[in-house]
Amino acid sequence: MRLRRLSLVSIALVAACSSNSDGPDLEAQVHNLVSQMTLEEKVAQMAGDSGLLLPEGETLWNVPGVERLGVPPLRMADGPRGVGTIEGATTFPVGMARGAMWEPEVEQRIGAAMGRELRAIGGNVLLAPTINILRHPSWGRSQDTYGEDAQHLTKMGVAFVRGVQEYVLANPKHYAANSIEDTRFEVDVSIDQRTLREIFLPHFRAAVLEGGAASVMSAYNSVNGQFCGENEQLLRKILKTEWRFDGFVLSDWTFGTHSTLGSALNGLDIEMSIARVYGDELLRAVRNGDVPESVVDEAVSRTVRKKLQYGLDKPTDLDGSVLANDEHLDLAKEAAVKGAVLLKNESMALPLVPSALTRVVVVGLLADTPNTGDNGSSGTKPSFVVTPLQGIQEALGDSVVIDHIDKNVLDAADLATIGAADAVIIVTGLTSEDEGEGLIGAGDRVDLGLGARRTKLIQDAAGANDRAIVVLEGGGAITVGDWLSDADALLMVWYPGQMGGHAIADLLFGVANPSGKLPLTFPTGLDQLPPFDNASLEVTYDYFHGYRYLDRNDETPEFEFGFGLSYTKFSLDNLRADRSEAGAGDTISFTIDVTNSGPVAGAEVVQLYVGYPDSSVERAERELKGFAKVSLEPGETKAVDISVPVDSLAYYDVAKSAWTLEPLEHVVYIGTSSRALPLSTTLRIAGGMAR
Ligand code: BGC
Repeated sequence: MRLRRLSLVSIALVAACSSNSDGPDLEAQVHNLVSQMTLEEKVAQMAGDSGLLLPEGETLWNVPGVERLGVPPLRMADGPRGVGTIEGATTFPVGMARGAMWEPEVEQRIGAAMGRELRAIGGNVLLAPTINILRHPSWGRSQDTYGEDAQHLTKMGVAFVRGVQEYVLANPKHYAANSIEDTRFEVDVSIDQRTLREIFLPHFRAAVLEGGAASVMSAYNSVNGQFCGENEQLLRKILKTEWRFDGFVLSDWTFGTHSTLGSALNGLDIEMSIARVYGDELLRAVRNGDVPESVVDEAVSRTVRKKLQYGLDKPTDLDGSVLANDEHLDLAKEAAVKGAVLLKNESMALPLVPSALTRVVVVGLLADTPNTGDNGSSGTKPSFVVTPLQGIQEALGDSVVIDHIDKNVLDAADLATIGAADAVIIVTGLTSEDEGEGLIGAGDRVDLGLGARRTKLIQDAAGANDRAIVVLEGGGAITVGDWLSDADALLMVWYPGQMGGHAIADLLFGVANPSGKLPLTFPTGLDQLPPFDNASLEVTYDYFHGYRYLDRNDETPEFEFGFGLSYTKFSLDNLRADRSEAGAGDTISFTIDVTNSGPVAGAEVVQLYVGYPDSSVERAERELKGFAKVSLEPGETKAVDISVPVDSLAYYDVAKSAWTLEPLEHVVYIGTSSRALPLSTTLRIAGGMAR
């Protein structure tokens, strides 16, 4: 029913405007169309008209086009973990789980799958990816983004944007410095210019310049005293002038706009989800001369340009069968497998060998509860979710007795059952009641632990069996110190999507080998991290957070950034570089031989960090500058290449407003986590401006 209705809408909007070519032709067409529009038609295209909330039965947010000129509307849906609001779209593991894959190639396929599903239901803008840097793990939406490091976030975000834009327009969000939920509508974030450029913006720049993102969503918060939806520096100066972004900017929903003049003059092209400061207010402002009509023309030209460039004026095949088809479900499972991080595996407690098992006990309410993440704007409506218990049951069949203790408080009989089994699998962690979006979800986490009840469940269950496996769910860092020593193995599976149960079973039983790496630091406690106050209306973000902060303070985390175990062993040897001196514009290629010296096939993430020991400015001890994931059979060795553009080693010199390379010996470290870096070499960089 729903698809048929959308199909009629879509066909009605099939347009007369034609070619998708870029360049002068495209610009001439844009100009031609915009010049035929009335002021009312132009202003109508600068705000959503779906209402504050999507009307019942509606699946896409709408921004009008101009039907008489064949200019189609924008039709949007959320998407960090799957096309939101439509029933039956694929639910992928959350962004953080996919960040833990460290595999941009897989992320690109996921972006493409979401783009394809959105287009199949008549949508044309996917409100994703979330590429806010995870400044602090208390952020309620940490699950939506990919991690704490700008370089890693850049690679994953660009890949997703490219994938999405094979089918529809992507919308990287929330630009910028959106890292608190509970006060997100009001908080002002003070950031010095160097920190802004080096830490909070590189991934947005890359999404636009490398990924070619057609649109960007501004954030709710303000930065340095101006709300992001009307922030002159962020929108007008950096995004549109410096980066030459030729797409459009839309506001975050309803509470992201504050004034007509500020928004229009400083570069907000579309107000979502309804006209509050635009609409009649904007019409009035243009008529009385406060906003030049050229500003409106520019905004509308930006959307029309992207509509033509991406062929949104052409009919699309509406095809509900694409939703959660086998290919997309397999991909969701692949991502869940590849993003799971094995954090502890004492005495090779994992994998469990099914043929050696007669009885296992699965403990915890979450074992048989669909737990795909936040129910805020990133919420999805999968037609089914494979729970961990279902995955385990299907994998083991009838050959092993499986008891499920479906509660969170254990009695003596439960403990006896656990004691009689070959292994206990405890499934626990966070849910949408613990973390999520502000206002419509649980908001920020003030405590990073699991709390007394869940901790006791782990301790009791693990105390009753000497093979205790904890399967941990959640969207970010969880402090585990209270119970880690009780567990023999710990597998972090995040919110693993609708195929998560099958992925977990494959990992537990050795059908797949864990290869995920933490895309964020797991601290021992809040005291290792910069301050986070979920009630603050004014915050200052400094240059250091995450592993760079802990390294600087000489703090040892529980599990460091980049860490993750495997069922096999890898060795890294023979680091070589194609040059030992380089300058602006060059790219240096590093090669490392990686060997799987263990008994089973597996994959390792080789990570390259750079340090600047003699820098004249304060810099990180070392920071990630490249990585590559490699799959190896037992005994196999492969040469792995990692390329580093020299310009990525520059710092932002505020006095000169320029990216500056220091004429220094840089130290290049290679290893398998931010703290396991067995290989190193030095590199002489010529000073100068980065390009
Ligand atoms: C969220 C955005 C989302 C939008 C539409 C906002 O509250 O911050 O990420 O795209 O709602 O659902």
